[in-house]
Amino acid sequence: MTAGPRNVAREMLPHFARLSVLRDVTPSTYAGRAVARRRRQRHIVPMQNVLLPPVTLRRLRRSEMSLFEAHLLRLDADCRRLRFGQAVRDEFLRAYARRKPERGTIIEGAFVDGVLRGVAELRPMALGSRAAEAAVSVEPAFRRRGIGRQLMERLTLRARNHGIRTVVLICLPENVAMRRLAASLGGTVSFAPGEVTYTIPEPAPTVFSLARETMADLSDRLTRLDRWGGPAGRHA
Ligand SMILES: CC(C)(COP(=O)(O)OP(=O)(O)OC[C@H]1O[C@@H](n2cnc3c(N)ncnc32)[C@H](O)[C@@H]1OP(=O)(O)O)[C@@H](O)C(=O)NCCC(=O)NCCS
Repeated sequence: MTAGPRNVAREMLPHFARLSVLRDVTPSTYAGRAVARRRRQRHIVPMQNVLLPPVTLRRLRRSEMSLFEAHLLRLDADCRRLRFGQAVRDEFLRAYARRKPERGTIIEGAFVDGVLRGVAELRPMALGSRAAEAAVSVEPAFRRRGIGRQLMERLTLRARNHGIRTVVLICLPENVAMRRLAASLGGTVSFAPGEVTYTIPEPAPTVFSLARETMADLSDRLTRLDRWGGPAGRHA
């Protein structure tokens, strides 16, 4: 096959992108939002996603907490406040990433070009509890590309398959991004002074939800094997 400009462009694009839909919609009206939703349902990828290298989601291993620490340290002051509910210093973040995780903790990572750019955490409320608290962070330069949603969807799938029946998300009232994301996951909302809590009910696992998790893990492994020779999880 000849390496014409069309073939080169096709090679460079992620396999799921469609060349015919590079025009984006500004969803400022109900009609605009409906169009944007229909496009997403047809797997149409906005321009900024086409330019982003593929995102790999996978569970972080205990030995990879230094990557988690580096990700947290890259968050700016505002992002740290939104994530932890208050201003936090570097020492706090180092200790947070290095602490021994409680039993049942799941930490899911989103890697872009081999670097950890987003993390979703699930921590059981108490030992053996069927309720767990979730938290998510995506580095500012990588936001609005669906990483936060993918991380939360993967995390809630894992929660469901691990016997968790309720996922709780707590955020500051001014955190519009997180509130919209939580609401879109089916969370019911309750208010307390200074915080908003979303409770996301998880149904019991089925053979299909277990198969989805297994297939997602397998696909991540195959993606990493496919890029053999490149860094699987390096520091920025
Ligand atoms: C909240 C956060 C994780 C979202 O990550 P993200 O990768 O940008 O999210 P996505 O691109 O997957 O967006 C998912 C949905 O969230 C909502 N959203 C995300 N960013 C938004 C913003 N700036 N304004 C309004 N809604 C926003 C939208 O509903 C979006 O869906 P849409 O793109 O179809 O409209 C990210 O903004 C972040 O890390 N914030 C700081 C940390 C934090 O607040 N953590 C929550 C406390 S636990």
